[in-house]
This record gives sequence, structure tokens and C-alpha cells, in this order.
Amino acid sequence: MPTDASIRREDSPLLELKGVGKKFWSESGTTVAALSGIDLEVRRGEFVTLLGATGCGKTTLLNIVAGIAEPDAGQIRMSDDVAVGRNVAYVFQHYTLFPWRTTLSNVAFGLQMRGVPRRRRKTLASELLAKVGLTGFENVRPHELSGGMRQRAAIAQALAIDPALLLMDEPFGAVDDSTRIELQQMLIDLWQDKRMTVLFVTHNIDEAILLGSRIVVFGDRPGRIVHQFEVDLPRPRVRSLPRFTELFLDIRNALSAGPE
Ligand SMILES: Nc1ncnc2c1ncn2[C@@H]1O[C@H](COP(=O)(O)OP(=O)(O)O)[C@@H](O)[C@H]1O
Ligand SMILES: [Mg+2]
Repeated sequence: MPTDASIRREDSPLLELKGVGKKFWSESGTTVAALSGIDLEVRRGEFVTLLGATGCGKTTLLNIVAGIAEPDAGQIRMSDDVAVGRNVAYVFQHYTLFPWRTTLSNVAFGLQMRGVPRRRRKTLASELLAKVGLTGFENVRPHELSGGMRQRAAIAQALAIDPALLLMDEPFGAVDDSTRIELQQMLIDLWQDKRMTVLFVTHNIDEAILLGSRIVVFGDRPGRIVHQFEVDLPRPRVRSLPRFTELFLDIRNALSAGPE
């Protein structure tokens, strides 16, 4: 099974940001530096968690990487297989399934857009639904699913296109604690199986440590990277290890202290 250590550091990065910045104008006419001077390299197969308080520009960064938002400073380089918007999937905090489609046809949607024949779509979507634990729910509509099940379906929908890069914006922020633990474990299993590169936003330190091969800590005003931590804990990760607590405290300090 692949491990965090098997991420190939010698490869050219999948994604490279240099000096990326983005300002917004607020309604009162003042400018908000949502992001400033972001330098970030993401290697193929990494699971990077972006950690920071609300308002430090995490969503803006994902939107820029997804090609939804335009940076007003800096450069972004992507390897050919993830040239902006292609082979990039996005999972949001609040599910974004089509309410009129069944679970199966929601998951098959991206395949339909890519012209995959109906029978093949159905097979692939069913396989993915099995992987996210939704076998038996193929023909129900999103409103009949629980919040956790909708996020499972949204993850299956995102993975259906076999993305090289998966962007996730606080995807488990709105579910209860026990569901969150199940979804975190499921996501790690999928990552270890498929080896897609993941950029995962959270404001929860525990979640960042449980999931990430690397944790990128953000500060605000302006939104910027204040620290990065490689996570050297074995998987599956357990909170009871002293190293977990040590890392937790280091990260909490980085979050409150700002830049080194
Ligand atoms: N479309 C927008 N118009 C104006 N201000 C925005 C817009 N999007 C984000 N901002 C501001 O930019 C900052 C960063 O926002 P965001 O990227 O959503 O942060 P996060 O996801 O970390 O909570 C915040 O101060 C937010 O209010
Ligand atoms: Mg956000």
C-alpha cells in the first residue's frame, strides 16, 4: 500500500503557485487582501490540508486553482494533466448534487458530459457508489439522503471523472462528529486506493493532522501561508500518540503566532 513517504519528491510538481495574490473590494469600498504572496508547490499524490481560520483566503485559493477565480498577482503552473479546469474535481461544504437526479445519475453526470456510453457510465457509477458505501441508494434523490450520505455521493461524483486533482472545501464541516470520522476514514481509503492529489481545506486542527501528508497553515490580513508541517505519523492515525499532541500544539502555536 502506498504511504506518505512514497510521494515522489523528485517529480516536477503537479501544481505550483508563485507570489499569488487576490484582492476584493468590499461594499464599503475598502480593499480586502484575500491572499498575498502565496508560494505553494503540490507534488503528485500528496494529500495537502490547508488549515486556517475563517476569512484567511482558503476558499479563494481553491477557486483560483479550480480556475473559477482569477488571481491579480503571481503565477500558477499546472502540469499538463491538470491544466486549469481539466481533470480537476471540486467538493464543496454543502452538497451540490442535482436535486432532480438520482444518486446514480448524479455520480454518472461527469461521465455523461465526457460522452461515456450509458451502460459503461452505469457500471462505473455503481462501482463508485459501492466504494463510498451507498449501494442500495442508487435510485433515490438527494433529499432522501442524510447529510453524510450526500457528501459520500458528492465524493463519488467528484471521483467519477478520475481527477488528477481533487479540491475539497471543508467537505465535512456540516456533518455530525461520528459521521465526520467515518467520512475521513473513507476519504483516506479512497486516496490510498486511487492516489489522486488532494487539496483539502479545513479549519479543524485534528482533521488536518488525521488527513494530511502535509499541513499548510494560513494566517489572515492578508491571507497568507504562515507555516508548513510535513506529517510523519503512521496511518491509520490515532490521536492517542504523543506525537499527535505535539504536532497539534505546534500547529496551534503557528495559527496564533503568525509568520515565523
Ligand atoms: N466575492 C467576494 N467579494 C468580496 N470579498 C470577498 C469575496 N470572496 C471572499 N472575500 C473576502 O476575502 C477574504 C477571504 O475569503 P475566503 O477565501 O472565503 O476565506 P476562507 O475560505 O478562508 O474563510 C474574506 O475577508 C472574505 O470576506
Ligand atoms: Mg471558505
